[in-house]
Amino acid sequence: MALIDLPLLMKDAVRGKRSAVTCALKCANQCAAGPCNHSDNSTFRDIASAALSRRTVLGGTGGALTIALAGTLGACSGPTPAEEGSTTGTAEGPTPNGTELSFTAIAPVDAETDEFTVPEGFDWHPVISWGDPLFEDAPDFEWDAQSAEAQKRQFGYNNDYTELQEIPDSDGKRAVMFVNHEYTNENIMFPPETDEDAVLEIGMAAHGLTVVELEREDTSSPYAYVRGAELNRRILLDTEFTLDGPAAGSELTRTTADPEGRTVLGTLGNCSGGLTPWGTLLSGEENFHGYFRATGTSEAEKRYGLADEETARNWEAKHERFDARTEGYENEPNRFGWIVEVDPFDPESTPRKHTSLGRFKHEGANVIVADDGHVVAYSGDDEVFDYLYKFVSRATYVEGDREHNLTLLEEGDLYVARFSGNSPEAEIDGTGELPADGAFDGTGEWLPLVVDGASQVEGFTVEEVLVNTRLAADAVGPTKMDRCEDVEPSLLTGRVYVACTNNSDRGTEGEAPADEMNPRTENRDGHVVEIDEQGDKTSTTFAWNLLLVCGDPAQDEQTYFSGFTPEQVSPISCPDNLAFDSVGNLWISTDGAPDGIGYSDGLFRVTVEGDARGRVEQFLAVPREAETCGPIVRDVERTAFVSVQHPGEDGEWGAHTSHFPDFDGTGPKPSVVQVLPRAE
Ligand code: FEO
Ligand code: CA
Ligand code: CA
Repeated sequence: MALIDLPLLMKDAVRGKRSAVTCALKCANQCAAGPCNHSDNSTFRDIASAALSRRTVLGGTGGALTIALAGTLGACSGPTPAEEGSTTGTAEGPTPNGTELSFTAIAPVDAETDEFTVPEGFDWHPVISWGDPLFEDAPDFEWDAQSAEAQKRQFGYNNDYTELQEIPDSDGKRAVMFVNHEYTNENIMFPPETDEDAVLEIGMAAHGLTVVELEREDTSSPYAYVRGAELNRRILLDTEFTLDGPAAGSELTRTTADPEGRTVLGTLGNCSGGLTPWGTLLSGEENFHGYFRATGTSEAEKRYGLADEETARNWEAKHERFDARTEGYENEPNRFGWIVEVDPFDPESTPRKHTSLGRFKHEGANVIVADDGHVVAYSGDDEVFDYLYKFVSRATYVEGDREHNLTLLEEGDLYVARFSGNSPEAEIDGTGELPADGAFDGTGEWLPLVVDGASQVEGFTVEEVLVNTRLAADAVGPTKMDRCEDVEPSLLTGRVYVACTNNSDRGTEGEAPADEMNPRTENRDGHVVEIDEQGDKTSTTFAWNLLLVCGDPAQDEQTYFSGFTPEQVSPISCPDNLAFDSVGNLWISTDGAPDGIGYSDGLFRVTVEGDARGRVEQFLAVPREAETCGPIVRDVERTAFVSVQHPGEDGEWGAHTSHFPDFDGTGPKPSVVQVLPRAE
């Protein structure tokens, strides 16, 4: 049998800090090809003439609005050491802003450890794992009896974004969970005798989305998934999606199989996502380029990393639509790279792809309703030196009118962010050392791409702006960022948090230098931005500051924790997914810490309000070679959920490096895990 030839795929592939397998299978070795963004715009130091002063943005008040809300939710006492041997010292005691979820931060875990680590007094429980049967007629998973037909009826691979909603009138005992499946690790999924065609088809069936019902005995018991429940659903590569919004039906979205350009089969590379106020889920199509072979000759294809090279899984050999060199399928890649919306409460509903939010390597999207009712969605383009976007719906949210609200993401205005720093360039030296004013901070603008249905970019039609959004954005001069992952507004304060995960190319030869927004050269550990639109979510200006400059203060690098004592935080690297608890504490899951600070990835609570602003406390660590995704925090119930993605991905059949979650000698299975207090 021939599994995917990983050594070949990995040729010279690994730059920066990712596992070679992750590079090959998740991102199609994008970083080996170097940044896609060769535009000469951006870093705000290049556009100082356009920079707004802080006073201008703040309407002359000159106040530090990012600080104004601090303290309003209550203050905390400082931390004390957590446990002996820990390099950190966060503590139980008064919990941030009165949350019910108190815990003693765990010590950082060595990256070689194949364990799921939780705080003292807590347990972890797998809720669902790769291969678990979702339907009554689905077979139980067997390592050596896998088939595509079985996989289509079982939970998919590499769970990433995860969200839970309680099912009404269930006394808190039933919930519906949405999970996406970003990619597959064929190197550890199949016994070596597995047929090559079966590997390909099972791999395809392990992509997509899952909706599944959960059940528990009471609110202090762990959830288990319900096989055969009414809402259970797999969304697969042959599931029809409606393409909607201004670019739907355009010449850029038509193919031989879909001459109308409005019906797409399947979704790919789903990474993070968000919950809407009307109960649907958004999911971002991220590294879609890795599934298509193309001529790679047009500016648009180059800008999205599409190339004339055999793809990692070689789907194009069996399914012509994945070969965009084929006449009639040139536009197939244009039908991926969108935000998709799924209604988990209606298994018969047709999922949609919204062209109004633009096409790029969407990490995800998160929405908030502005005071005037417009729905605002934030989304990051997760690639080195790419951009941060904001969408404002044309129509407004109507409480209780779900049918109307389901249309809100179909039309609206699209913007891209340009940041300006307020410290002299000479004070940003690339080390991460704070400038003299004591903050990485400044102002910014949302630059219009589409407004009132009209293109705002010279030389681009609306359809071109939305399909080739990266090219359109290049033309207006946004800020090149260090890989925007989750972008999430706090529903309590309205402030928006951006996880910039890392960028090993920052400041290297020929690339954009460090700036106040992205202040470290060869940024290994990432940072977190806080954006304040001063109460107006539809504003085209904002103030910003860096909440965290991540890393391990015990190692030789500059870090920043909003002034909190560095010796008293959990070390944190490569922030990826974000969530909030009920009182507004920020929770961050990480992806890449093993290759950064040398510890396992995990889930961390960050205090953002009060005296302890900037305190980081590690809640859990995931097993070997896994990233932590999709956090859900239910602090009132003292519980949290994470997706454990790609455990043991550097292994191979017969030499597995992780045995999570069963630890019975078999290979690893990506799983959704619930953590809750240990039963008495
Ligand atoms: Fe799939 Fe942006 O990580
Ligand atoms: Ca400053
Ligand atoms: Ca991610």
